[in-house]
Amino acid sequence: MRNRDRKIFGVFLAITLILATGVTLSARSTSKENKGAMEITKEEFGHTPDGRTVNLYTLKNANGMTVKITNYGGIVTELMVPDGSGRLGDIVLGFDNLKEYLAGDPYFGALIGRYGNRIAKGKFTLDGKAYSLATNNNGNHLHGGIKGYDKVVWSASEVRSPEGVGLKLNYLSKDGEEGYPGNLNITVVYLLTPMNELKIDYAATADRPTPVNLTHHSYFNLAGAGKGTILDHEVMLNADAYTVVDASLIPTGEIRKVSGTPFDFTKPKTIGAEISKVEGGYDHNFVLTRKAYGLQMAARVYDPTSARLMEVWTTEPGLQFYTGNFLDGSIKGKCGLVYPKNGGFCLEAQHYPDSPNHPEFPSTILNPGATYRQQTVYRFDIKK
Ligand code: BGC
Repeated sequence: MRNRDRKIFGVFLAITLILATGVTLSARSTSKENKGAMEITKEEFGHTPDGRTVNLYTLKNANGMTVKITNYGGIVTELMVPDGSGRLGDIVLGFDNLKEYLAGDPYFGALIGRYGNRIAKGKFTLDGKAYSLATNNNGNHLHGGIKGYDKVVWSASEVRSPEGVGLKLNYLSKDGEEGYPGNLNITVVYLLTPMNELKIDYAATADRPTPVNLTHHSYFNLAGAGKGTILDHEVMLNADAYTVVDASLIPTGEIRKVSGTPFDFTKPKTIGAEISKVEGGYDHNFVLTRKAYGLQMAARVYDPTSARLMEVWTTEPGLQFYTGNFLDGSIKGKCGLVYPKNGGFCLEAQHYPDSPNHPEFPSTILNPGATYRQQTVYRFDIKK
């Protein structure tokens, strides 16, 4: 080989080697099987006014997907997922510190209970006895009352399993809390898997019959929290009906077909396409189309600007689709970013609102000896 040819060959070899190493490295760092790279770390997040220490846990998988969860309210404070070009972005609304969560907010990222959504006037009758719950929303009971599970300190332990890394939260909700009958012992496990899924497993037992309807209340913006509205996101809901509500968002009892209405998301359409036809915006329980029990896909959301895709899978019969209608730009969130009206959407897998007053809805009553269970999975990907 002549000198010049040798040089050209050398450069060619070097480029090939660099490219090959790059491909191997990136294959390794995006390998969904690389469980070794899953991590969980813990740091102090702050103190409650009564002096209890609250921690912040960071779950990370081999793809770099990161979830931060605090044991105050079981709140997901940050969710970093890759966009179409592999860049990680935080896609949930929230705050940078505990102080701001303590000051109150519209349930950003929180665990909700004992009853997700509304119970009319906070009243229901169970086994012939009338109960009165705390009212906190236009005379109705919303998301567990004045001090729901979003505002309590959960005991926490780290989970390392073949399925992923996670956080196990436990809370004992005492008999009479916010007016509910019976002690309720609740365990919630958040698990981050190598498949870019955030799995939430709920379990609860009670020593007296009580309504239970637990859910998770993250506000998502797949373009990035604080990056405008979600009106251009495309949504598909696997629901052929919804529960009709009155002006105070209490179900009338009617279950109406979505076909021919702005509630028809059976084929993907943007959130903004028909939102103006729905007074106040979407804040409705969708009745999931089910052929069997078990985990089933309930929703798929796509943001064209980032190419991020989110699927929601659940064992629940309903899905509250809330488009952040009450956000008004007055809340300054993480990094000082402002959350405008429709700046995030929630997909809360749960039983129907006000079920204790609607015997025709699937029952939410948990009896002693039985175990309440629900599983919901938020699965992230990009559109290729
Ligand atoms: C409800 C809304 C409520 C919001 C509070 C949603 O789950 O459906 O009506 O305003 O939570 O942030």
